Amino acid sequence: MSKLRNIVILTGAGISAESGIDTFRSEGGLWEQHRVEDVATPEAFVRDPDLVLRFYDMRREAIQTKQPNAAHVALARLDREWPKREGGDVLIVTQNVDDLHERGGALNVLHMHGEHLNAWCIACDTRHRWTGPLIHRPPCPACGMAALRPDIVWFGEMPYRMEEIYAAVSTADLFVSIGTSGAVYPAAGLVRNARDLGVQTLELNLERSKGSAWFHETRLGPATQIVPDWVGELLSS
Ligand code: OAD
Repeated sequence: MSKLRNIVILTGAGISAESGIDTFRSEGGLWEQHRVEDVATPEAFVRDPDLVLRFYDMRREAIQTKQPNAAHVALARLDREWPKREGGDVLIVTQNVDDLHERGGALNVLHMHGEHLNAWCIACDTRHRWTGPLIHRPPCPACGMAALRPDIVWFGEMPYRMEEIYAAVSTADLFVSIGTSGAVYPAAGLVRNARDLGVQTLELNLERSKGSAWFHETRLGPATQIVPDWVGELLSS
């Protein structure tokens, strides 16, 4: 096996579960309480913007009360220390729209499904750091139009920065998937891209994901245990 240098890490809701943020598909999870098509599609936003804005306002407020957990902190440590030790790159590609990777100290985080703490002006196509509500239709700081929406990738929309993600996978030596059910594409397909390119693949999750068979290795357990263990192993190898 070639020397391990570049690492791409895909994270999902499971990494933030122990910080108290609901996952999507678990019992009582976010989508169980809301129909996806009512809150997470462009059509829902046209049909009932107040419902959609209120839903995301609540989520935006809630995540600001949550704290990064040991798994976020361990990945941040890897992100900071690995390049110095091995001269390779670490990229954390997250499907999560919270900011717990960043608050845990990670530097190289790519939010493929958007961010709760951003608002996107659909009039002038600018993005703005946003911590408050959108329900009252505040003006866009750039153009003044009341045209801000959550900067969240809804079902039927293209995830962000896919070319960058595919490029990183193509130069990776290791692809690691953490806390994701493997139910939503294109994120769920990245493990197959990695396999096709001969990249080593590792899954860290509470239970086997839908794409589990594609991984060379699977380690099961809560993220706050298995992620720090794995990072510790890597940094002491
Ligand atoms: P899911 O809710 O589909 O899956 C969460 C995964 O985390 C499951 O496989 C759980 O077993 C696992 N899990 C739960 N608790 C865990 C823990 N403490 N430690 C480790 N793993 C744990 O969430 P995602 O896969 O992230 O998209 O969902 C993918 C996308 O579907 C989301 O980004 C969102 C959603 O629709 C958009 O909003 C665009």
